[in-house]
Amino acid sequence: MSTEKINQIVEEAKASFQSCQNPDELYKSKVKVLGKKGALSLVMQEMKNLSPEERPAFGQSVNEAKKSLESLYASLSEELVKQEMAQKLAQSMLDPELPGFEVKTGTYHPIELVIREMIDILSRIGFSVRLGPLIEHDDLNFTALNFPEDHPAREMQDTFYMKHDHVLRTHTSPIQVRTLRSESLPLRILAPGSVFRCDSDTTHAPNFYQVEGLWVDKKVSMAHLKGVVDFFAKSYFGDKTQTRFRPSFFPFTEPSAEVDCTCPLCAGQGCRVCSKTGWIEIGGCGLVHPNVLKMSDVDPDQWQGFAFGFGVERMAMIKYRLSDIRLFNENDLRFLEQFR
Ligand code: DAH
Repeated sequence: MSTEKINQIVEEAKASFQSCQNPDELYKSKVKVLGKKGALSLVMQEMKNLSPEERPAFGQSVNEAKKSLESLYASLSEELVKQEMAQKLAQSMLDPELPGFEVKTGTYHPIELVIREMIDILSRIGFSVRLGPLIEHDDLNFTALNFPEDHPAREMQDTFYMKHDHVLRTHTSPIQVRTLRSESLPLRILAPGSVFRCDSDTTHAPNFYQVEGLWVDKKVSMAHLKGVVDFFAKSYFGDKTQTRFRPSFFPFTEPSAEVDCTCPLCAGQGCRVCSKTGWIEIGGCGLVHPNVLKMSDVDPDQWQGFAFGFGVERMAMIKYRLSDIRLFNENDLRFLEQFR
């Protein structure tokens, strides 16, 4: 076996490498000469037929042949990989410089935003959240809140009646009763949630939200109630906001009042939203009726309380200047996306 033979193998391999069109072919071609059963490995097997003097020189030329083929392989391979990539990019429709697709992230619903803000404000003065079920026993929705049986006040609420003395709760006030019956006093709670009434137009939805507040302690007065409501209105609508109470009636409070605040849109000057009165109603309130305390096993001679219930849609409509309550339930993304 002569060095010419080795040179011949190398020349043939180089020619074969150079004729390859892609990395795959090139690799196969490399295996043919440098692989375990490749031409150069077979040549090495002939070493045993050589005299000991001839062996080192022979071994060295095989090694040099290997090295030079390896390095040719490496450079050609890099070249072919690049070429292949360029071809693929040219063929496919992919343009790596085009902007990507926008990934849309969700947003909080405006009602959720308002509830969170209300909780945030009132938790600063010690209120903490309680929840109750949407399907409520008639007793808790009405009777324990001092609505006498067959009293017309039950009609006021356009109730959705269900089987077995249950109703879709018409207000969050039953959570007052649930909390009074299960927790120790004094307490200060907030109860946000969904309520239902059989009613629907631009300012009434059959399903809407309220935030209920209840503060029970040894000595609690209308003055404390006014202070809390005023603090809330100023924090939510702005420092300049004023509040007023108008006498009203709720079976579960005595005395009862309707809460108005100066219209945040016209600062009390009178506009379309406040019907030129300068005032907007945001909810009801009052001192907890002694009968309500009694029916929850709280002694009205020892404890007093006040409660309030605010309409969340109302708060949101005023804050975001919306004129139709139905927007909240339509799930129109063009509307919802504005509340990022
Ligand atoms: N529950 C009443 C309603 O839905 C709102 C309300 C009024 C809640 C006075 C109260 C309150 O806690 O004291 O119309």
